[in-house]
Order: sequence, then structure tokens, then C-alpha cells
Amino acid sequence: MQGYRIGFGEDAHRLAAGRPLVLGGVAIPGAERGADAHSDGDVLLHAVSDALLSAWALGDIGQHFPDTDPAYGDAPSSGLLLDALALALSRSGGARPVQASAVVTLDRPKLGPYRDAMASQLADLLGLPADRVGVTFKTSEGLAPDHVQARAVVLWSDPRSA
Ligand code: C5P
Ligand code: MG
Repeated sequence: MQGYRIGFGEDAHRLAAGRPLVLGGVAIPGAERGADAHSDGDVLLHAVSDALLSAWALGDIGQHFPDTDPAYGDAPSSGLLLDALALALSRSGGARPVQASAVVTLDRPKLGPYRDAMASQLADLLGLPADRVGVTFKTSEGLAPDHVQARAVVLWSDPRSA
């Protein structure tokens, strides 16, 4: 492999009462609303999963792992991310993820207290040290109060060419 590959991914869901809010594999305590989704609606893991596939031009998670498949029903999206990672690794010629950076846009609740837990879960899933995973938060400034969204990039490199 020559140089680097980068992948970008995005996901969003409408917020609904009576649903857990799960982001980066972390269930946010006391959240009044969560993602209205067939799966656990973890937009952060879904954005990272699409970024993993996109780096290798492998399409997206909806194509490979349809949300109509009972295997991905209410199951944790960590399994989906690991499936996407395995697919990407099978095409990456020895390259591995070396860094990930993600943004979650959500008006409420405040996510800052859960940043380290989300980054640590993501780092574990991607096989990265915690200081290679950045997670930031933004409100929509009230423009999208019924919406949770995540965007992520993942950088890949071949450790043999480093
Ligand atoms: O979007 P805004 O610039 O208003 O965000 C300000 C701060 O609030 C940032 O430090 C961000 O990390 C934090 N934040 C948060 N939880 C959110 C949205 C923003 O902790 N749901
Ligand atoms: Mg601001």
C-alpha cells in the first residue's frame, strides 16, 4: 500500500421518547429521548462504520448489513462496526486504522461527561490507543432539536510502510 487512505461517514436519526440514547456504545443516563431506529440507533458507531468502508470504496453499511436483517435488529452496533472493520481489513492489503475523529451534533443532553467513555469504546473497537480517537460535540443551536447526528473520519495506514 502506498501512503494513506481516509474514509468519511455520517449518520442521523430522529429523536423519539421512550428510546435509549446510545452513542459510541455508551448508553447516556437520563436521556429523555433516543434514536428512533430499527437498530440501537448509535449514529456515532454507524458513522465510523461507514467511514471504515468508504476508505476502501466498499459502499456503506446499509448495503452490506441491511437494517431489515434480524441479526442487526436491536443488537449493539459494535457488532456491525466489527463486521465493517473485518470487511475493510480484508481489502486493505495490510493497512490498519491509525486514527479516528468524530463529531456528534445534539442539542440535549450535554455529552461532555461521556466523552472519555465513548472514545475509549471506539478505540477498543478499532484497536487503537485512546489518544488516537477524538470525539467532539456540537449543538445545532436549536436548528435541529429533534435530531441526533454524527460524522466521522478514519485514517488508515500500512504499519509496514510507516
Ligand atoms: O455547539 P456549541 O458550540 O454550543 O457547543 C459548546 C460546548 O458544548 C462544546 O464544548 C461541546 O463539547 C459541548 N456540548 C456537549 N453536549 C452536547 C453539545 C455540545 O457537551 N450535546
Ligand atoms: Mg458553537
